[in-house]
Amino acid sequence: MPLFGARTYVGIDLGSHAIKAVEVARGPQGIRILRAGSVPTPSGAIKDGVAADPEILGGAIRTLLNQLRIQPRRVLADIGGQAVIVREIKLPEMTREEVSQAVKFEAERYIPYGVKDMVVDFDIVGEILEGGQRRLLVLLVAARKELVDRQLKALEVAGIHPEILDVEAFAVLRGLRGSPLAQVPDGEALVYVDIGADATDILVTEGESLRLMRNVSTGGNNLTRAISLAMDLEFEAAEELKTRQGTLLPEEVEGDRTSRELYDIMVPHLMDIAAEIRRSVDYFQTRFQKTRMGKVFLSGGTAHLKGLDRFLATELGLEVVVGDPFEGCICDERTFPEEVRRRIGPAMAAAIGLAKRGAEEL
Ligand SMILES: Nc1ncnc2c1ncn2[C@@H]1O[C@H](COP(=O)(O)OP(=O)(O)O)[C@@H](O)[C@H]1O
Ligand SMILES: [Mg+2]
Repeated sequence: MPLFGARTYVGIDLGSHAIKAVEVARGPQGIRILRAGSVPTPSGAIKDGVAADPEILGGAIRTLLNQLRIQPRRVLADIGGQAVIVREIKLPEMTREEVSQAVKFEAERYIPYGVKDMVVDFDIVGEILEGGQRRLLVLLVAARKELVDRQLKALEVAGIHPEILDVEAFAVLRGLRGSPLAQVPDGEALVYVDIGADATDILVTEGESLRLMRNVSTGGNNLTRAISLAMDLEFEAAEELKTRQGTLLPEEVEGDRTSRELYDIMVPHLMDIAAEIRRSVDYFQTRFQKTRMGKVFLSGGTAHLKGLDRFLATELGLEVVVGDPFEGCICDERTFPEEVRRRIGPAMAAAIGLAKRGAEEL
């Protein structure tokens, strides 16, 4: 066992492109990353952010844990996409027990199909003073029971009974928040954009508060499909070409014909993603006019696309950086050299965030 049997925590991020797992331990100096890796998600095993075929997905999770030699004891996993409804509500000061009751009533207002088929949970995220009254800021989280059960079933097939099933976007946030770049003065907002294969999560935070959260159905697969169509290639071949030669850096686009062609195919779809981010930022700014917009943190596999940070910075008129979830954690330079961290980091944000939550809370 690692570290003479020290308690370890495992984060498993069930993405539609890849399943990622990270094992961490908490030590006196902070959270140490022990193992990290991924396997491709079997085709069709995850749809709209949730397990569609629990047996096949479970098998792939098992393979990943075996490869990494992880014993899945204290596990946190996630559920993503539009399966989850999150709302920030304000309640008068009350006990935790009372909040739990009130949240059920509130949930009725936000959920179209009635709460009895839903799993409803909450988190008290802060307190505010409103018209001289203290009020609690509560994050209400709800998901259809059937979807939660399917996700749990896939994990069970892999022999896992998770301690926590978190929301994917929250996991991303936790994965990137430890970075020194995310430490900003009060009154400055940060934007987190995780661009996966099928979907993109957009979050805006201000201090400790989550101000806005959206999941939009666009991501790297749109780029690959467009390449496949325009260049008459199979999806897999288009994917390979995109990751090998796709670039948005002007100097590289100018110098290479294929890169130029890929650029022209990808740009309209990247403009769509930029427009979604801009819409979220605009909405936030109309509601919180005094807040200054800070950086945009990019994560997810598509953040590896060369020059995407610069491209989005120009489109949005904001500073854009590629997030590094390894930052703020301790990792052994031999197991995770700089080059490896850079290569796998952005896509690992959620898995690292989940494992960190385990180390911090369990
Ligand atoms: N070097 C790269 N250039 C462009 N896109 C990439 C690169 N590496 C990975 N991607 C894309 O990232 C997406 C997968 O990201 P990931 O965060 O793992 O997705 P998910 O969370 O949906 O499993 C895919 O669309 C993949 O093509
Ligand atoms: Mg993802």
